[in-house]
Amino acid sequence: MAFRWLLFLLSFLVLLSSSKSTPTTITIPLSAPSSTKPIVFLKDPWGTLNHLASLSLTRAHHIKSPKTNFSLIKIPLFPRSYGGYSISLNFGTPPQTTKFNMDTGSSLVWFPCTSRYRCSKCDFPSIKITGIPTFIPKLSSSSKLIGCKNPKCSSFFGPKIQSKCQECDPTSQNCTQTCPPYVLQYASGSTAGLLLSETLDFPDKKTIPGFLVGCSIFSIRQPEGIAGFGRSPESLPSQLGLRKFSYCLVPHAFDDTPESSDLVLYSGSGSGDTKTPGLRYTPFQKNSNNAFRDYYYVLLRKIVIGGTHVKVPYKFLVPGSDGNGGTIVDSGTTFTFMEKPVYELVAKEFEKQMANYTAATEVQTLTGLRPCFNISGEKSVFFPDLIFQFKGGAKMALPSANYFSFVGTEVICLTIVSDNVIGPGIGGGPAIILGNYHQRNFYVEFDLENERFGFKQQSCVRI
Ligand SMILES: *[C@@H]1O[C@H](CO)[C@@H](O)[C@H](O)[C@H]1NC(C)=O
Ligand SMILES: *[C@@H]1O[C@H](CO)[C@@H](O)[C@H](O)[C@H]1NC(C)=O
Ligand SMILES: *[C@@H]1O[C@H](CO)[C@@H](O)[C@H](O)[C@H]1NC(C)=O
Ligand SMILES: *[C@@H]1O[C@H](CO)[C@@H](O)[C@H](O)[C@H]1NC(C)=O
Repeated sequence: MAFRWLLFLLSFLVLLSSSKSTPTTITIPLSAPSSTKPIVFLKDPWGTLNHLASLSLTRAHHIKSPKTNFSLIKIPLFPRSYGGYSISLNFGTPPQTTKFNMDTGSSLVWFPCTSRYRCSKCDFPSIKITGIPTFIPKLSSSSKLIGCKNPKCSSFFGPKIQSKCQECDPTSQNCTQTCPPYVLQYASGSTAGLLLSETLDFPDKKTIPGFLVGCSIFSIRQPEGIAGFGRSPESLPSQLGLRKFSYCLVPHAFDDTPESSDLVLYSGSGSGDTKTPGLRYTPFQKNSNNAFRDYYYVLLRKIVIGGTHVKVPYKFLVPGSDGNGGTIVDSGTTFTFMEKPVYELVAKEFEKQMANYTAATEVQTLTGLRPCFNISGEKSVFFPDLIFQFKGGAKMALPSANYFSFVGTEVICLTIVSDNVIGPGIGGGPAIILGNYHQRNFYVEFDLENERFGFKQQSCVRI
């Protein structure tokens, strides 16, 4: 979530591997680039890294889940030049296809909507967005505005709905006031619109009527719609009553190559606590603060760099009584984020262990990334191992391409970011956000039925 849209600006030489993909179920293709390729170094964009907006999304409540009737659906998941991964979904009767950023860090599913849709600051330097495709409710016979009386309206807005639906006093049975507009603030953008009830169509006649979806008529910095895969009732997994979903992110070079992997949605009757072979699991954690209810928290116990345990203070690893702190898994964030004090410890350890390479301070200043090294002339580069160890003992040993990347052709930088704040973070929220760059070439599973996160390293590129 945080800097998600800002980071698309970064350009890299991405190290790719080739390989095969995954299991069976509802698959949504994700695409990715397939070759090693230097990217042009952009001018200003780096400055934007410094603006991290508040991570908290205020969200709402208890939307009833229509039960679905499929066991599994695969949807292709495509890497996008803005730094996220997107899926196509079909809404309406007849169906209209729009693209959505697949985001485990938020919950509402919304599309750019109506011919009057406006997006401000959507002309990204690296992607020329010439007209974002929009959904046209007029062309769909199943489009319905959600009314104030609809339980989905009150569950989305929560208790404050009373003041927003004043025409609908508690005794009137047939009030016609529509559910008030939503305004969602993301870490670096926002969107606003009206809630619709629509039919969501998957291939093979798998049809979900009455799906709550946002018809956004105005956005800032949103290159496409968002499919919220978070934990609130309005998210896609909640509305479909999924028992789990999984994906494997293909590495890419911040471009829009048509290579995808599968996002798999699992519905139907549960499989008990059967584990997927080869996966390591760590339980999802609860956060007592409702403001962060969208997020998938995991308990990170240790960060180990080149065999050295980086001593991260407890308050960052575990959410406090105010809900701040802790670690979340977020497909909508590009680079892994660490709050300043954690980031400092990690960056210093890399600086120490890689002290025999030449620091590229100019690039550090330009990009906000640190440390960066000029490796021109080096035949090979030694990268200290980076291991994240979670509750239950699950260890995630990252391939070096997931935490170091070329910036230009001579300089490599650690691709972990932080905010610019000295001392305690500004916005609160998670202290560590495991972004999609970090998750590349891992098969990951959000096992909602058993409340756990599973992963294994593998190549995500289809053969
Ligand atoms: C679900 O699909 C199966 C097979 O297609 C069918 O037999 C069953 O009646 C369906 N159940 C519901 C609730 O629609
Ligand atoms: C419902 O609507 C009808 C017609 O619009 C109106 O006559 C009636 O009084 C309304 N009932 C209530 C309980 O508001
Ligand atoms: C830097 O140190 C590592 C081990 O500490 C070594 O493997 C690598 O070759 C060294 N590189 C240079 C340029 O000296
Ligand atoms: C990297 O080092 C080489 C050789 O010292 C130098 O020519 C080049 O300008 C440096 N590149 C950057 C981006 O600092």
